[in-house]
Amino acid sequence: MITVFGSINMDLIATTQRLPKPGETVAGNGFSTAAGGKGANQALAARRAGCTVHMAGAVGHDGFADEALALLKDAGTDLEAVKRADQPTGTAVILVGGDGENMIAVVPGANGTVTAEDADKAVGAMTKGDTLMLQLEVPAPAVERALATARAKGVTTILNLAPLIDDAARLGRLADIVIANETEFERLAGQENMSPDDREAALKRLNAETGQTLIVTLGGDGVVAIRDGVLSRAKGLKIEPVDTVGAGDTFCGYFAASLDEGLDFEPALRRAAVAGSLACLKQGAQPSIPSRDDVANKL
Ligand code: RIB
Repeated sequence: MITVFGSINMDLIATTQRLPKPGETVAGNGFSTAAGGKGANQALAARRAGCTVHMAGAVGHDGFADEALALLKDAGTDLEAVKRADQPTGTAVILVGGDGENMIAVVPGANGTVTAEDADKAVGAMTKGDTLMLQLEVPAPAVERALATARAKGVTTILNLAPLIDDAARLGRLADIVIANETEFERLAGQENMSPDDREAALKRLNAETGQTLIVTLGGDGVVAIRDGVLSRAKGLKIEPVDTVGAGDTFCGYFAASLDEGLDFEPALRRAAVAGSLACLKQGAQPSIPSRDDVANKL
């Protein structure tokens, strides 16, 4: 069983031929809304992978709240631990350029009301052997409490170090498994402008120091990871990306679900990388998360 303790957003998405530079206005060629938020996206990915998933977080009392939860609800995610806060549902304003790259500004709203007490409730319902998955889009004190309480209970913790916040490196030390992109990993390792060799050396060093399993996502180049001193690599699929929003979340959710259902580490990385590639082929974070069967057909 997986509990995701994290953010829930409504994504407001404009597509443009190319992304604007600071201060520039460009013409858009499409607009849509879709359910998003790193926590909710990861929860839905784990659910579509076939896991039992509980989502813990917060939405507002506004019109976006139900829309933001609709796909999670349809998929059969347990939403008991999602509270209604006196703040608007979190929103993300997203621009997607013609090459599939994006720019995102997140307004936390209700996500900012998630507290350490909420963490106590969410983790209190978990038992040894369960998996707790977190990101950094709800307040750091809540994330910290959830990690500490889970560790004390023997719950496996997976922290996606996104988005990068000041406390990222400190919080990153508290999880059993850390998933980071290249920039986030540099923050964790305390070193900038890493070459691939630097990255491998840092993975070995950190794994030896902390015993943590560490995974670095490399976009189209797949992932590099270390577990128990052994380096692993996995590639996704060769694709022409339409929209990469939510691809990292899909990786995280599928990876957590794969370990939870007993897959070994390397097959779990490969399955998650394939799922992440497939998530780049459609627009919108949650609408693009592939089904278990779609992923299995591409393995
Ligand atoms: O990782 C993608 C997500 O980041 C989007 O769905 C958006 O809501 C932001 O949280």
